Amino acid sequence: MRHLMSPLDFTTEELEQLFDLANDIEKNMKKYSHACDGKKLATCFYEPSTRTRLSFESAMLSLGGNVLGFSDANSSSAAKGESVSDTIRMISCYADICAMRHPKEGAPMVAATKSSIPVINAGDGGHQHPTQTLTDLLTIRSLKGRLNNFTIGLCGDLKFGRTVHSLINALSRYDNITFVFVSPEELKIPEYITDMLKEKNISYEEVISLEEVIGKLDLLYMTRVQRERFFNEEDYVRLKDFYILNKEKMDMAKPDMLVLHPLPRVNEISVEVDDDERAVYFKQVQYGVYVRMALILTLLEIDTDNL
Ligand code: NCD
Repeated sequence: MRHLMSPLDFTTEELEQLFDLANDIEKNMKKYSHACDGKKLATCFYEPSTRTRLSFESAMLSLGGNVLGFSDANSSSAAKGESVSDTIRMISCYADICAMRHPKEGAPMVAATKSSIPVINAGDGGHQHPTQTLTDLLTIRSLKGRLNNFTIGLCGDLKFGRTVHSLINALSRYDNITFVFVSPEELKIPEYITDMLKEKNISYEEVISLEEVIGKLDLLYMTRVQRERFFNEEDYVRLKDFYILNKEKMDMAKPDMLVLHPLPRVNEISVEVDDDERAVYFKQVQYGVYVRMALILTLLEIDTDNL
């Protein structure tokens, strides 16, 4: 039985298969509409989420399966003091697969060790968010046609943004990727990540100004300042509007530079950018459903050749 804790749990070859499956789902939705008949997905969300939880639920419903779960730790037995290990043992009796989000880093991993069903890490604290990364990679691969040979700018909260950490990890396995980290001094990318890049001889630079570098990017990954991970509100207020991507800055970018964002967006992308055809963050949401469908099928070991 397999779980998904980090995007690195799949080899790049396995990811290719997963993305091929997701692209086939995109083209032939109907073919998959009963693939998970009788199966149940549990969504155990100990931290707020709209997109990710609904994306998982939509994915399972589109496969003909059912969903159950909770979307708030206070409405689960965690509020009574139940451990994640006990909760997952119980969920294992109720469902065939579980997507878990938790504010504590490593909690889904602890759950996986006690689980008798596949567990998917749907975001653990500031650590990892592998299914967002699968979404990001599928979006890039589908719209750019490749996962190598590009310069990607990651902008905003690079310190607390788990989507950023997961994406860098995943992209570090592809050839000729240059990272440009754009953040205020206080929200710089953690050192363990730059150490990993140095060790692998992957080129990166760290800058504060987006204008200075936007012209050379093939991809721009914008992120929100992660308010819930700040120790004090004052720092958040000071940093929250540090970057605002607007039309003027888009005019400085390449004509085929794609703008991605894991969403939710706060102020960091002005709504006027939404109409720019290079803004693909809402398309990204749709790819998120396809890739989660492919992931559920893969982890449940459903034979998709005979659908
Ligand atoms: C992200 C997350 O939860 O880390 N959202 C998501 O799942 N799409 C990004 C964020 O909250 O900023």
